[in-house]
Amino acid sequence: MRLIRLAEADDFEAWRAVARALAQTRTPPREIAWTADGVGPATHVEIPPEAAGRVVPANRAFLELARAAFAHASGEKYGLLYRLLWRLGTEPGLMARAEDRDVARARALAEAARNRERAPAVASASFSATTPAVPQPRPSVSERVQKAALRSSRDGPFDSIAPTSLEEVAAGIDACRRCPLWRDTTQGVPGEGPARARMMLVGEQPGDQEDRQGAPFVGPAGVLLDKAMAVAGVDRGQVFVTNAVKHFKHELRGKRRLHKTPNAGEIEACRWWLDAERRLVRPKVIVALGASAALGVLGKATPIAANRGKSIAISEQVRGLVTYHPSYLLRIPDEDARHKGFEALVQDLKLASRLAAG
Ligand code: URA
Repeated sequence: MRLIRLAEADDFEAWRAVARALAQTRTPPREIAWTADGVGPATHVEIPPEAAGRVVPANRAFLELARAAFAHASGEKYGLLYRLLWRLGTEPGLMARAEDRDVARARALAEAARNRERAPAVASASFSATTPAVPQPRPSVSERVQKAALRSSRDGPFDSIAPTSLEEVAAGIDACRRCPLWRDTTQGVPGEGPARARMMLVGEQPGDQEDRQGAPFVGPAGVLLDKAMAVAGVDRGQVFVTNAVKHFKHELRGKRRLHKTPNAGEIEACRWWLDAERRLVRPKVIVALGASAALGVLGKATPIAANRGKSIAISEQVRGLVTYHPSYLLRIPDEDARHKGFEALVQDLKLASRLAAG
């Protein structure tokens, strides 16, 4: 696995130059982990003379979509777009296939980024509890899923009104009134990633940035998570990333929205959606980041320090792992302890990757 570091998260031309060099040197997407953590210098990809003349199959449709999707904050975009570029080598008509998973995902990122641009600028100074930061287009909700969204209890995991697609899950989350957390948020934040991923990462709940952008782990915790995944050799584009709770619980302190830990009732109410994501994505391994996620995934309190680093049987087919939440690591004041915590997270992600592959 090769770690490719970009200097800037939103510099499309820099990504394009590296992607081009990787394609010319015939580096398959599965061998690359991407990061833009800003920690070290950007990676330079050497192109041997015999590879320099190789044609890269980027066509106009790809470049237009890639540029638009790149405006999205999600760390998933680097690997996703490189995979599309790679596939164009053997599937020249790929970009016209709207139903293709990678094409659909790139279009979704591009659309979300465009919507954000069209919305009024988010000035934190102008945010109040009653004014959503960014008005997002609401997905339509079928009657069946709306019913699920309005239920106040769990009612068994997969009964007849359970969502049947990730799009339904996303719409249902946004319409969800199972607990009161939706009231002061911009939107519900569903999981994101391949519709069938071998690994699922579960965080606690969206933070301020995730609430504004409608995507999980795109704020400071996401940057650290991306870095840990890159060091562990895990491609975020191959992982379904989600949260135990889908709305941002917070309190207002002046103009700032401060994170509040969700309680057991809120985690329980939201398990409906997490269960639906699990059932649809069917991961082989689920990594719970922190105690709230562990409660959502395992259904019982599971202290992290005592349980991390080992594979836990969730069912016959699915393994579980608990590990540190990136936000917890960011809050550790002692540098040495923070470094050790980060290393533990990396080791746990490596183990998850082995379990997912097995
Ligand atoms: N913390 C989480 O648990 N999830 C996010 O999506 C972001 C921060």
